[in-house]
Amino acid sequence: YEDPLDLMDEIDELKKEKDASILAHFYVDGEIQDIADFTGDSLKLARDATKVKTSTIVFSGVHFMGESAKIMNPEKRVLIPDMLAGCSLAESCPADQLGSFQEQLRAEGRSFETVAYINTSAAVKSLCDWIVTSGNAQEIIGRVPDDKEILFVPDQHLGRYLMEVTGRKMILWPGSCMVHEVFSIQDLIRAKRNNPGSKVIAHPECPQNILEITDFIGGTEKMRQHVMSVKEPTTFLVATESAMIHAFEKSAPQHNFVPVPGIMVDTGETCACNRCPHMARNTLQKVRDCLRDGTPEIVWQDYFEKARAVLDKSLL
Ligand code: 13P
Ligand code: SF4
Repeated sequence: YEDPLDLMDEIDELKKEKDASILAHFYVDGEIQDIADFTGDSLKLARDATKVKTSTIVFSGVHFMGESAKIMNPEKRVLIPDMLAGCSLAESCPADQLGSFQEQLRAEGRSFETVAYINTSAAVKSLCDWIVTSGNAQEIIGRVPDDKEILFVPDQHLGRYLMEVTGRKMILWPGSCMVHEVFSIQDLIRAKRNNPGSKVIAHPECPQNILEITDFIGGTEKMRQHVMSVKEPTTFLVATESAMIHAFEKSAPQHNFVPVPGIMVDTGETCACNRCPHMARNTLQKVRDCLRDGTPEIVWQDYFEKARAVLDKSLL
């Protein structure tokens, strides 16, 4: 066991010594968010990665986020605390399967553009026309010409929600996030009943039955802005990854935030599965180790060049 405060001091020293900045997503442990130079949602962090002045970036999040940071900064060294921090959404859409499906649509004579959520591998990004995040999806979808169909990958729930808010019909890839997929509608209804006057906030990666009884739907940064804009102390029932509550409490301490529980897929029992196991692989120790040892590193791949063009036109 190592004292978190000692680790934080050590990380501060190593950052200077190694000329490094730390970027942390809102879903990693609060203590990592506290020592980060930049925190944010996927969109802000992708943009922040291009503004970093140091020669090394430590991306505390999941693999596709580190990959995007490398793609947008080929000359910088990009480290991630744990190479095994993946993403169930990204894994639900392998590049070879997407390529075959696109071929099939072309063979049918369909005229379409592929819009990918940023939660995809770089190999998938290189096969797409646009990359969206929860923060800019509506704006980007507005840039797809009206005479084109949209193939949206990989999140079916976000895709369905975007069809509803943009009025565009989409072909949806059947992927989903293992965290947002499992919120229990029954427990949410009970929590609403037990917390009179409370408001539900939810990420659009949640299924339709959750979003239907949600008061505010948005990506992590949009939710954060929303709770900051509400001045009256309120109880918010939070249907997103539970580490997000750390950022909410820091930004809007006047409120009470209650995590909505998930439900175990195999037994149907309520569980704390609103914590993303991939994000949870990030620990202070691993941040320290990767700064100290310079590994694991995201190494440039040939197909990053094609993914870069798509990311640049979509995010910058
Ligand atoms: P945003 O922070 O962009 O809303 O992304 C949520 C998410 O699931 C990241 O893995
Ligand atoms: Fe992927 Fe879901 Fe974890 Fe985000 S919360 S990294 S979408 S599995």
